[in-house]
Amino acid sequence: MGVVYAISNQKGGVGKTTTAVNVAACLAAEGSQTLLVDLDPQCNATVALGGERDMHPSSYDCLIGEVSVAEAARPAGPDNLWLVPANRDLAGAAVELPRIDGSETRLRERLGPVRERFAYTLLDCPPSLGPVSVNALTAADRVLVPVQAEYLALEGLVQFLDTLATIRRELNPRLEVSGLLVTMHDERTRLAQDVERELRQHFPEMVFETVIPRSVRVAEAPSYGLPVTEHSPRSRGSEAYRALAGELAARG
Ligand SMILES: Nc1ncnc2c1ncn2[C@@H]1O[C@H](COP(=O)(O)OP(=O)(O)OP(=O)(O)O)[C@@H](O)[C@H]1O
Ligand SMILES: [Mg+2]
Repeated sequence: MGVVYAISNQKGGVGKTTTAVNVAACLAAEGSQTLLVDLDPQCNATVALGGERDMHPSSYDCLIGEVSVAEAARPAGPDNLWLVPANRDLAGAAVELPRIDGSETRLRERLGPVRERFAYTLLDCPPSLGPVSVNALTAADRVLVPVQAEYLALEGLVQFLDTLATIRRELNPRLEVSGLLVTMHDERTRLAQDVERELRQHFPEMVFETVIPRSVRVAEAPSYGLPVTEHSPRSRGSEAYRALAGELAARG
């Protein structure tokens, strides 16, 4: 049975989408059928894989309409990699969802046979804990939390982990934290090292061994519509995301 991961952190710009796209690409390159679901109306994951912001069916149709996630999946380019795109409609979902009874479980109910078809399904969440993120966390088996190494908001992180506990209690008892991922790590700065050390101290066992370095190749890959592993396969960013995919695969 496949595993569904939410890539989530309510803080913006911490590397959620970059991680979702590149880890998905690495898992696919290793031969696993992998699905990336873009759940952010910014459509950054969709665009990073060369898509447009107006594709149908989209994740909005899964959340609000009757389309299943499995049905909405389309080939994303690289072998074994599939995408459910986001489009601009998704901005309305945050308003529409609360009007629907039991809306927190919409996405879970709409997954369809994704766990049979895909070894990995990655849900790229928006930067808020609104209804769409709650749906993702309710549908997921595990949550991967990117944390930017340039700024440690421990308070924000603790708050986020508390929210996960609430979701586990009320909506999704099997939700596990897959791990905290240090992103945009610039080894030349003391701050990056401090953030990494503090994270490992505060959350022992929870922080992935792999650290994602700050890298121009990683930042520029989306403008080519490619994962960094295709844009610049030998870069340090590519190596890091391959190592992270290895850590995920090793956990089964
Ligand atoms: N390892 C990295 N090296 C350099 N730049 C990076 C790296 N990771 C992410 N970035 C850049 O940082 C910015 C934010 O990254 P990203 O979009 O992945 O974050 P996000 O958490 O998905 O943001 P949002 O909360 O808006 O969805 C982007 O411009 C991205 O290209
Ligand atoms: Mg994003």
